[in-house]
Amino acid sequence: MSSESREPKTRRVEITRREEFSASHRLHDPSLSDEENVALYGPCNNFHGHGHNYALEVCLIGEVPQSGMVMDLNVLQGILCEEIISKVDHKHLNHDVDFLQGLVTTAENLAIAFFERLEPRINDHPGCELSCVRVYESAANFAEYRKV
Ligand code: NI
Repeated sequence: MSSESREPKTRRVEITRREEFSASHRLHDPSLSDEENVALYGPCNNFHGHGHNYALEVCLIGEVPQSGMVMDLNVLQGILCEEIISKVDHKHLNHDVDFLQGLVTTAENLAIAFFERLEPRINDHPGCELSCVRVYESAANFAEYRKV
């Protein structure tokens, strides 16, 4: 076996940054009646909302360049804080966050909304792309949106 054949086929690596935030929300679809909302969302439809200790995981993928870093994780942390955490931490997701207006604030919809908000910022950095956003409502429940 030559040394060349032991080389990995690519040097694409996925990196992940995790941030935590606390927020309240209410699962409520205004196109449904109050009774239908209670039947669909149960206690998550509670009128005044309820809280979660959320976690957000954001994954980037790219070739490992000469620097050894797909992206400097401190730079990624700055983007996450600026675009997401500063907007949602200690907020009511239904009322306080402009880019979530009109959404039913499930973890699934949050994952898509966060991905779409982050993607242009990540695209400013050549050589890596946003691959995945995970939103944890608890240690047991999370939603993942993956584009590539
Ligand atoms: Ni909830």
